[in-house]
Formats: sequence, structure tokens, C-alpha cells
Amino acid sequence: MAYEVIIPAAGQGKRMGAGKNKLLLELNDVPVLIHTLRVFEQDPQCEGMILAISPEDEESFRKLLKQYKIQKVSKLVYGGKERQHSVYNGLEEAAGTDDVILVHDGARPFIDIKLIHELVEVAKEYGAAVVAVPVKDTIKRVHHNEVVETVDRSSLWAIQTPQAFRISVLKEAHMRAQETDFLGTDEASLVERLPYPVKIVEGSYDNIKLTTKEDLYFAEAILRKTKGEK
Ligand code: CTP
Ligand code: MG
Repeated sequence: MAYEVIIPAAGQGKRMGAGKNKLLLELNDVPVLIHTLRVFEQDPQCEGMILAISPEDEESFRKLLKQYKIQKVSKLVYGGKERQHSVYNGLEEAAGTDDVILVHDGARPFIDIKLIHELVEVAKEYGAAVVAVPVKDTIKRVHHNEVVETVDRSSLWAIQTPQAFRISVLKEAHMRAQETDFLGTDEASLVERLPYPVKIVEGSYDNIKLTTKEDLYFAEAILRKTKGEK
């Protein structure tokens, strides 16, 4: 099923500490942003990418889109202060209401096309779906450096992107969040405040978000592995 995707790419990459947007860092000589965009560029079901960027990156991002012949970025919008605002700005450019829209972090270059398709189907049926993996660590709630309790891991999942929604559902969720000054770290947390289910599609531990410096080593290992598989 066809879909559009909003790609928030307007962050500053502070935790990466590279002194610039981490999406400009290179893996195998190709910028992280391009690794991510290529997945959607190569997916026949993807009808367009809406890219949220910050004005400081506009020139370099536009250059990269040209250089790497990325054709499907149909709209460039400016991001906002928080990720949620960047996604909202992208959502305003989304066409249609009944179709499915995806949100996928620019900083997650290892998403798999088959998984995207599965996610889109689930979102079409239920209204909202997210990719996630079961938590592997033992998780404890801590207060002032002292353990309060061990949380039952069997019901804990680490939530990733892509997240997929019927456009009308995501719009309603954003409106409600605005009205109530709610700020979430992902789109599903906005939808969870509405009477719609958010379904889980089990994904892969490879689908990491490049956040801190160490993630670059993991990313290189994942790239080597996927190259070996091809
Ligand atoms: N993002 C965005 N607009 C913002 C903040 C983040 O579009 N105001 C994007 C980032 O570019 C990234 C994704 O949202 O692709 C996930 O955010 P995160 O990993 O937090 O990236 P940064 O905000 O860039 O990093 P940091 O929080 O360390 O500054
Ligand atoms: Mg951030």
C-alpha cells in the first residue's frame, strides 16, 4: 500500500557532540541522512518524503539530495524547537486524510523495507502502529541513586520508528497535544491519549538510532553485516 513519510531531520545532534547535525556524519563515506533516505527512495510503495530540516542545514541538505539523486523528497519544511514540532510542520504538508503516513527518524538508517510494508498494513487496519523490540536489559526504577523496584520486563518494549498512522488519527493526536500542551518523544505517545489502539510490529535490534558517539561503532558493524548478507 502506498504511503508518504515524514522524516524529522531538524535536530542539532547535541548528544553526538560532533559540532554539527549528526545526520551529516558519514558511514562508509555516505552521510547518515542519505542512508536513511535511500531506503524510502528504493521502496516502490513510498510516494513521497517530507523532510523537516533546520534553516542552517538547508544548503548542505539540498546539495546532498542532488549529489545522491534522491528524487522522492517532495517537500522540505523547517523543523521546530522540539522533534514533535518538526513532525507537526511536516504533517501540515501531508496530502489526504484516509491514507497512511509514516514518521521515521532521519537518525535511523537501518530500517528494513519489508518491515515498513508490514507496519503500513497494520496502521491501515487499526489506525496506528509502531515498530518495537522486546527490552533485553533488566530495568529498575531508581530514585536518587537508589533502586525503588524492578519493573516486570515481560511487558516492556523499546519503541522505535517508523511509526505509521492513518493521517486523520495523527492529525487529531497532534491537535489534542497542542490544546493540552503535551510534549511527547514519539508520535504514538500523542495517539495513546486518544481512544485508539496503538499496535506493535516486532522489529529488529539493528534499527538503532544514532544518538551518541558509541552508536557510530555499532552502525559500522551493522553496515558490514548487511553488506555480507547481500
Ligand atoms: N529532530 C527534529 N527536530 C527537532 C529535534 C530532532 O527533526 N527539533 C529529529 C532529529 O534530526 C533526528 C530525530 O528527530 O533525526 C530524532 O531526534 P534525536 O535523536 O534526539 O536527534 P537530535 O535532536 O538531533 O539529537 P540531540 O537530542 O542529541 O540533540
Ligand atoms: Mg533530540
